[in-house]
Amino acid sequence: MTPPASPRRLLVRDLAQLATPAGRGAPLRGGSLADVAVLEDAYLLVHGDTLEAVGRMRELPALGGDVAELDGRGLCAIPGLVDCHAHPAFAGDRVDEFALRAGGASYEELHAAGGGIRATVAKTRAAGREGVAAAVERHRRWMLRHGTTTWEGKSGYGLDRETELASLRAVRDAGGVPTWLGAHAVPPEFDDGDAYLDWALAEVLPEAAPIAESADVFLEKGAFDAAQARRYLQASARAGLALRLHGDQFTEAGAVPLALEIGARSVDHLEATGAGGVRALAASDVVGVLLPASALFLGRPMPPARALVEAGAAIALATDFNPGSAFCESLPLVCSLAATQLRMSPAEALTACTVNAAHVLGRAARVGRLAPGYAADAVLLDAPDWRYLAYHLGGEVVHTVLVAGEPVRIR
Ligand code: NIG
Ligand code: FE
Repeated sequence: MTPPASPRRLLVRDLAQLATPAGRGAPLRGGSLADVAVLEDAYLLVHGDTLEAVGRMRELPALGGDVAELDGRGLCAIPGLVDCHAHPAFAGDRVDEFALRAGGASYEELHAAGGGIRATVAKTRAAGREGVAAAVERHRRWMLRHGTTTWEGKSGYGLDRETELASLRAVRDAGGVPTWLGAHAVPPEFDDGDAYLDWALAEVLPEAAPIAESADVFLEKGAFDAAQARRYLQASARAGLALRLHGDQFTEAGAVPLALEIGARSVDHLEATGAGGVRALAASDVVGVLLPASALFLGRPMPPARALVEAGAAIALATDFNPGSAFCESLPLVCSLAATQLRMSPAEALTACTVNAAHVLGRAARVGRLAPGYAADAVLLDAPDWRYLAYHLGGEVVHTVLVAGEPVRIR
């Protein structure tokens, strides 16, 4: 009998730099957000799907046995990027609305006129189970091309039993982290939010809970109010789900106090958050997830990133990838926006879309750092300095992505 083959080892050698959030634990906040360790002339050693070692070339130990090699000259390694807020389970597009917005129509007006989220709900329902799965798989490939190796996929464009469950299964089957966004909008067959939630909590939650890891709600004027959000999230928590909120996107409607009250993992958007919300978040374990691509896409004010960091709040960065408010799957672009619009340093941005984002997805013990024992997920940047991640605005910075130890050449 031949013994089972041991997992393969891969040495990525002669990297110009290797950059990783330093330290241990998550989430990182305040000054630690910028604590990034940079090794010049570095290597990364992979064993199966796990990182065995990282270090400087001159300290590379003799490696016995079979080791594949990958030439890292001219490249910089960072951890695989983590997109902790994305809506990839949608069909069709909203390019017509985009053009109307360019001519002056507002996102809220389009939403109130029956466009917006509901327009995508109609297309996603019509796409059926296979259409949704194909869309999620296509969007996963887009994200990978920008270095995203761990990603969230929210439902919320079905809002009926079949399409919500199909969305969650499609995300799970494509390797994403499924979030039940059952409270995204009130679907057309219901007159009001309470009646819809009665139905969704009775008919969808029991089947969504075994597939999803978290539940999310859009707490906003025209969507769900704080009392409805509390009811939806408390029922989801009883079903074993972690809790997330879309809050303070256009107005402060009580999302931050509710997030603290119910122990949510995160409250996301925060474009409208004032000084009181910043202070409250800073004194809590709730992560503020900032989505600058969404603020840019809608021409809205940017979230108060500097105030949050300086107050000591834990923050993460994500794309908010969706067809209406952020048709953008690129975390490198989000890092550029963080540096140019949110006054975050490249180091703060890196931590915010690796370790801290992994924490929001409940994966920080294994994802988000280049360190022994972590997942062998990494991005090799086509750049002499890792900060090109944020510096090269809209640039083709991703050369190769390691996904669970497997190199995928991007360009
Ligand atoms: O996070 N704000 C609510 N949901 C999404 C947008 C959804 C859409 O416009 O289709 C967001 O921005
Ligand atoms: Fe969102």
